[in-house]
Amino acid sequence: MAKKIAVLVGSLRKESYNRKIANELIRLSQTNLEMEIVEIGNLPLYNEDLDQNPPQEWTDFRAKVKASEGVLFVSPEYNRTLPGALKNAIDVGSRPYGSSVWQSKPGAVVTASPSSLGAFGANHNIRQAVVFLDVFMMAQPEAYIGNAAEIFKEDGTTVVEATEKFLKGFVEAYQKWVEKF
Ligand SMILES: Cc1cc2nc3c(=O)[nH]c(=O)nc-3n(C[C@H](O)[C@H](O)[C@H](O)COP(=O)(O)O)c2cc1C
Repeated sequence: MAKKIAVLVGSLRKESYNRKIANELIRLSQTNLEMEIVEIGNLPLYNEDLDQNPPQEWTDFRAKVKASEGVLFVSPEYNRTLPGALKNAIDVGSRPYGSSVWQSKPGAVVTASPSSLGAFGANHNIRQAVVFLDVFMMAQPEAYIGNAAEIFKEDGTTVVEATEKFLKGFVEAYQKWVEKF
């Protein structure tokens, strides 16, 4: 049976390069991975006080991640770290204490930026937060996609051949990683 993978996109922007890359990863994924974007833009900011009667958006988000058998983060970098929206989603999923939905899931991260550094800082800050939450992060291959404005074909949504090859290799490695758990 196909393994359900929750895909979290760190950008809320409609024309986000990272969302487009996430969609390409989904397109290129193997039939034994059922990858789906779990939206994070509607999550109220985490506040422990609210967790006595949690907002429906938190409950729905937690249920979706909990039901998944893996998590894939696809994110830009904001000020050399991960965007606040993604950190908020990670925080929401990590609480209430003792009920984290991230626990023991096989994870992976792809970061992309129009600059040449490929959002390296965000990539490792995402790893730092979720490794603490016991997500088993795939170490290799790493995915820092630079010059993200130049990797799409004229249609603006599908990636050029070299990037497609790289993303396909990444998703194949992730599938093997998921199978280990
Ligand atoms: C608040 C903010 C901070 C940013 N900081 C960085 C940064 O540290 N490194 C970087 O490579 N790009 C940075 N950028 C540029 C983003 O990489 C660029 O806007 C990118 O297109 C965002 O990803 P998206 O296309 O998926 O929305 C920043 C953008 C914003 C809005």
